[in-house]
Amino acid sequence: MDMFVVRGGKPLKGRVRVSGSKNAALPIMAASLMADGPVTLHDVPDLVDVRTLSQLLGTLGVISERQADNALRLEVIDDSPVVADYELVRRMRASICVLGPLLARRGRATVSLPGGCNIGDRPIDLHLKGLKALGADIRIERGYVIATAKKLRGARVFLGGSFGSTVTGTCNVMAAAALADGVTTIESAACEPEVADYGDLLNAMGAKIEGLGTPFLRIEGVESLAGAEHHVIPDRIEAATLLIAGAITHGEVSVENVRTDHLSAVLDKLNDVGVRIGIAEDPGGSDRSTLHVLPSEKLTPTECSALPYPGLPTDVQAQFMALLSRADGISVVTDKVFPDRFMHVAELVRLGASIHREGQSAIISGTEKLHGACVMACDLRASAALVLAAMAADGESVIRRIYHLDRGYEQLEHRLNSLGADIRRVNDCAENVPASLRLTQPVENASSLDSPFHAEGAVKLEDGRQIRVDSAESLAPLQSPADAKVKQGPAS
Ligand code: EPU
Repeated sequence: MDMFVVRGGKPLKGRVRVSGSKNAALPIMAASLMADGPVTLHDVPDLVDVRTLSQLLGTLGVISERQADNALRLEVIDDSPVVADYELVRRMRASICVLGPLLARRGRATVSLPGGCNIGDRPIDLHLKGLKALGADIRIERGYVIATAKKLRGARVFLGGSFGSTVTGTCNVMAAAALADGVTTIESAACEPEVADYGDLLNAMGAKIEGLGTPFLRIEGVESLAGAEHHVIPDRIEAATLLIAGAITHGEVSVENVRTDHLSAVLDKLNDVGVRIGIAEDPGGSDRSTLHVLPSEKLTPTECSALPYPGLPTDVQAQFMALLSRADGISVVTDKVFPDRFMHVAELVRLGASIHREGQSAIISGTEKLHGACVMACDLRASAALVLAAMAADGESVIRRIYHLDRGYEQLEHRLNSLGADIRRVNDCAENVPASLRLTQPVENASSLDSPFHAEGAVKLEDGRQIRVDSAESLAPLQSPADAKVKQGPAS
């Protein structure tokens, strides 16, 4: 297993290009199951999740071939397999995206339920409700969804749930409706750009879908779908992560290949926080822009909520939290899409952030300095937040379990290093932990250390520096979130 060793404190400088969107590419790849010819996708990032899905599609009779310039060619050579096995599905939740296409094209699908997830409950009831409305017979047996339908029929489907609509669920129902008899209307469809991109691919294959990007979709079923060629949209979450990387290191970074229309909420919030961003539209008239992050004097605290699109994406909530941990005051971040997506809080606290969780919100008391520490990544976006915080921290940090990061960011450390970051990928073993992070002996006179918060004790590092160590007990008397240096809510 690999880990990152990050030496922080270096302002980033330079240009970096955003890759194609992971969350658009994955359902789109699954849609190739429905095509009567090859589907060629451009700008598909080379990620672990993409490889996992290629492997799963391989078991379902689809051959995938990598071509130059991040193109991926997919072609069905055997349309008889219908089982998506647990061993592959459990590795990646997006595997559920094969459900709608298999059912629509092959009349049956047996897809493993994906199981638990670090970012909270992730039911698929809305996917199943939509497919049932189109006439599918669905049952759950021994951990598998078993869906059959002789012929799907158009219907009226409402896809709203307690936390908004569903991104991959809308894709599944759209796929099934594209080959159903008659007209389907989906109300409360997800409006995320990745869902619209999925619909664009289906339309390029011959589907008849109207209303993409709105909560109301009208889909007129067609007899068959052909092969097609499609350019995947740029990854808005990666773009946001790179912009925050510039801002959190007080750097000067140009982020290319950005659809600014997909980033309105992120740009608005960065502006609120005081991050200065210039936008250069493509002189050639394409919809891709280059965004320039300029060094900001001071970051202003804010309140923000992660919401379904066009709101602030839940997939940048953790990265925003890392940024706000450097703001000058108290911020509140709420996640209304995944209310338990806060496992990164405890790890950011290890890096010196002052964060207190209250239900589906986190209260962040900005601190002037973050400090290097050993931390553990717990999901994809949390890993990105830890890399950002570690780049902004004084000294060295170790980030473990970066396999989460590799699932969704293409060569992130190489790209950040090309901007001046100092991130090394090394084997995860004790010898590779920098001496500055190996604790040796307790420091006797802890009270002599200059610290604004209660101390449990202090330790001496191998390089001679002394650091303070807190305990949860020492925080019990603290009154306000601003005072709390380390306090965590219930484990999520
Ligand atoms: N939900 C239900 N019932 C359902 C489906 C979802 O209650 O049947 C709830 C979920 O529990 C959640 C909310 O609805 O509270 C939104 O879930 P959604 O179904 O939209 O999420 P998803 O389709 O499983 C995609 C992305 C996620 C991203 C979410 C929200 C892909 C492959 N994944 O997941 O991306 O966080 O939409 O925008 O597109 C990531 O990239 O790190 C990631 C987790």
